[in-house]
Amino acid sequence: MLSEVLFLLCCLSCVFSKDPDIEEEEIAAYNFMAILNRKTEEMLNKYQQTEWDYETNLTDENLQRKLEVGAEMAKFQKEAWQQVISFDWRRFSDYYLRRQFFLYSVLGDGALPPEKYKKLKKIIGDMENIFSTAKICAYNETQKCDLALNPDITNIMSTSRNEEELKHVWLAWRDAVGPKCRALFEEYVQLSNEAARLNNFTDTSEYWLNGYEDPHFKDKIQNIYEQLKPLYLQLHAYVRFKLRQKYGDVVSETGPIPAHLLGDIMAQNWREIADFTLPFPNVGDNDLTQELIDQNYTAIQIARTAEDFFKSLNLTEMPDSFWEKSIFTKSEDKPMVCMASSWDFSDGKDFRVKLCMHITLTDFTVTHHEMGHIEYYLHYKNLPVKFRGGANDGFHEAVGDLISLSVLSTKHLRQIGLINTDIDHRVDMNNLYKVGLHKIMFLPFSYLMELWRWDIFSGKTKPEDYNCKWWELREKYQGVESPVDRSEEDFDPASKYHIISSTPYLRYFIALILQFQFHRTLCEKAGQYDPISHYSHLHNCDIYQSREAGNALKRMLAMGASRPWPDALEALTGQREMDATAILEYFQPLHEWLKNENKKNGAYVGWESSKRVCTRTKKELET
Ligand code: SER
Ligand code: ZN
Repeated sequence: MLSEVLFLLCCLSCVFSKDPDIEEEEIAAYNFMAILNRKTEEMLNKYQQTEWDYETNLTDENLQRKLEVGAEMAKFQKEAWQQVISFDWRRFSDYYLRRQFFLYSVLGDGALPPEKYKKLKKIIGDMENIFSTAKICAYNETQKCDLALNPDITNIMSTSRNEEELKHVWLAWRDAVGPKCRALFEEYVQLSNEAARLNNFTDTSEYWLNGYEDPHFKDKIQNIYEQLKPLYLQLHAYVRFKLRQKYGDVVSETGPIPAHLLGDIMAQNWREIADFTLPFPNVGDNDLTQELIDQNYTAIQIARTAEDFFKSLNLTEMPDSFWEKSIFTKSEDKPMVCMASSWDFSDGKDFRVKLCMHITLTDFTVTHHEMGHIEYYLHYKNLPVKFRGGANDGFHEAVGDLISLSVLSTKHLRQIGLINTDIDHRVDMNNLYKVGLHKIMFLPFSYLMELWRWDIFSGKTKPEDYNCKWWELREKYQGVESPVDRSEEDFDPASKYHIISSTPYLRYFIALILQFQFHRTLCEKAGQYDPISHYSHLHNCDIYQSREAGNALKRMLAMGASRPWPDALEALTGQREMDATAILEYFQPLHEWLKNENKKNGAYVGWESSKRVCTRTKKELET
């Protein structure tokens, strides 16, 4: 009753308080917006085609074309923006119209003068090219110098257990990319900040954070990170203990872990070292990659398996053109950007993924991740163009990962035949441990990627300290260290794609937290989790074939970016804040096990300062 009265009052007030000038302007604004949206879709479509062409064939000609169309798009956006801000849109009565104006009112890089805009995009394009075409020599084989990040380096990092080989590859990759990108990166920082300032932000970090529509967002992230740190420390201590058993004194008892021993070129996902660190060795089917290979999975079959899961939730199947136009495996004859990505060509029809898939568990998971993006695109494709985005970028990153939480549960793996033994608590713990190596170890990495860049954009970290600051953060947050001393003549952050391609990274941290929050809600809807008695533990839940869960997810996806993200979160979970309790609850059995095990082993928890040094010049290292 009260709400009805309030509603009536609101309605009356909007009718009576309305200024006729504004009413007229609002009607004009509707028409303006309809035309602008159509033109924006056309422009985006044209630009995305050139981006796709470049990223799938890295020629100068394709880069030129992309830069030209990019410049055309920037010009279009600037003109549109000037018109947008000439409206008195904050006084409009229609919420969704106001929100579209709000979203159009930040111009972005297009605020730069045309020459500078082109320069900024050229610098990023050049760094992407350096990164994507870099090759290194194989260990002890000076004649074999054609190893690329994907697949060769990635493969060696995940499968080699030869410490010298791992060190060689780790270093060679950084030598091949870092120094070449350093000057370009410095110039990029200047230009990117200039663009941010033209948009009335203090620098690019403030611009990137703006999308979260919350002035306290940084503090909230820090708070969540602190809540998860105890679990991280336990896992870190356990892994270091196991690594010492394998590699001996290369790994110290109490120091940071050398970053080349963790199964991944960035030490961001430690899952690949599970085989020799498992809580219960030789129990259950340990090697899921081998299972996929043995069962003759192809890239397309992996994608079809992912699609099947989405369809089982009553989500949307991939359109025919997706299968025709996507790239699933690396092109043999054309240099391409292998970083996995998903594409919405803004015409409501054309959606693609670009993958350099190999038959590995990692790529199986990546495929689910990318298809999660496509599902989001498909659900909001009919919204006005500015609403076609995640509630925030972390939501977008969370959808596919959320599905993987079910897919990689022992229950589901057994159902689809990737685990063939009976499940007991040891198989279960091994599996939970592997998910922990992937998810929990990623937390500080995804956080420090942005801590590093925030201070760079704000000028707090000066160019002459870029690399040493990077290692300071790697040590402080991840408890890892470089296997050799470093200097400012190196530029190690460039060994990560998202740094050189100017892709914000906080989204992945957010996604990590959100996916468990979503998972908890959807498991409840699927009747597999009772929040009061916790009768089925979260890590044992598999939402496969639950339409209730799927329909709830659908509703959130269909909201796109039409409302601030807490509204979308509330629509699905009933909560308006990001919350670490779901992820903590999911890993609680592992956390308990690790605490006992570390105590039993006398494993040191935490780390003392690294003995490695980082200097201005390499010469200083020699003296
Ligand atoms: N896709 C992101 C990366 O590869 C997060 O996993 O770094
Ligand atoms: Zn993604």
